Amino acid sequence: MTAPERYPIRTRILHWLTALLVFSTLFIGFMMVNSLGSYASLRAVHMTLGVLILVIMVTRAANRFTHRVPKLPDTVGWIEHQLVVGSELALYAVLLAQPLVGWAMVSATGRSVVIFGSLHLPRIAPFDADVFFILRQTHSVLAYTLVVVIAAHVSAVLLHTLTLRDGMLSRMTFARRQRSPHPRAGVPTADTPSNSAISRTLAAADVHAAGCGSNNAQDTGRHGRPRRHR
Ligand code: HEM
Ligand code: HEM
Repeated sequence: MTAPERYPIRTRILHWLTALLVFSTLFIGFMMVNSLGSYASLRAVHMTLGVLILVIMVTRAANRFTHRVPKLPDTVGWIEHQLVVGSELALYAVLLAQPLVGWAMVSATGRSVVIFGSLHLPRIAPFDADVFFILRQTHSVLAYTLVVVIAAHVSAVLLHTLTLRDGMLSRMTFARRQRSPHPRAGVPTADTPSNSAISRTLAAADVHAAGCGSNNAQDTGRHGRPRRHR
């Protein structure tokens, strides 16, 4: 199986930066509501990280919707393809909404959001107890939704990478890949009848791949059937 197409480097950097920030923000969020002594300092860090996530997600959304997403590996069927796209869009939606809800929630208490210790952001919601109550509930629901969607996302990636071994994780990693061997590597060159047969089969595979608009002689489906092109 050949290595699947990778996301561009800027997408990979943004992805791991977001993952780091989101894990930290969730962790600090759940910690601070159960912490008495360090609530104020954790809340300050939480709000700064949350606003940073908003900035990065706006950049990511612009990046995602202006650039082609690499084709998924052949191990992903049609239904799973819809689930992957749906879950990724859900991650975008929740990660754009959650910081805005947090920002509006603090605004509804009549205070402004302060990031990096001194930068005051404008208030984006009216000073109102009912509005605060709704936004506070929404912030919790979105946090738990995020945990569930991220768990599903990571489980799916690990299932593909460890069980189906289709290199799904390598689409987002930075490690250098080994160059795949030439399709004819290892095929004996002496023109015996059986070697000629192998050469003819490989040549036919090349012609088939070229006809499919692919540059890969092994470009077949998971069970050797011709791949469906998306
Ligand atoms: C993706 C970004 C964010 C995530 C994942 C997140 C997550 C969380 C979580 C898990 C909690 C605890 C919820 C609970 O246990 O009920 C929380 C609380 C809180 N969040 Fe966020 N948050 C984010 C962004 C923000 C932003 C941008 C702000 C404000 C600018 C903010 C302000 C707050 C505040 C003030 C609380 C504590 C509320 C209280 O003490 O009752 N959050 N957040
Ligand atoms: C907070 C944590 C995470 C978030 C919010 C997140 C979000 C996303 C999003 C939105 C995409 C779609 C690509 C894009 O449009 O930019 C994606 C793809 C991907 N993520 Fe994550 N991710 C997280 C954690 C992880 C972790 C821990 C792993 C490793 C197990 C991982 C592995 C991948 C891979 C391999 C892809 C490419 C999937 C594909 O082939 O389409 N992600 N992630």
